Amino acid sequence: MFVCSCFGVTEAQVQQHADDGACTPRQIASACKAGTDCGSCVRRIQAILGRGACSRRETADQGRPVLAGLADLDEAA
Ligand code: FES
Repeated sequence: MFVCSCFGVTEAQVQQHADDGACTPRQIASACKAGTDCGSCVRRIQAILGRGACSRRETADQGRPVLAGLADLDEAA
């Protein structure tokens, strides 16, 4: 089912981008342009993200440091 009809982005694609680390509608837009034309899909994208699509949000909900993994990446660089 399409979430963003302007760019033909499906709910599964939004879910995949969220699994890859996108936690906000802006980050979803950066990944696939969804929400950047008419904007009518942004609330649907927010709803998908709000029901736990973002793995980092789940980490935060559990009270664990969300950015700890990113700090490790910085040190490795
Ligand atoms: S439906 Fe997504 S930008 Fe128009």
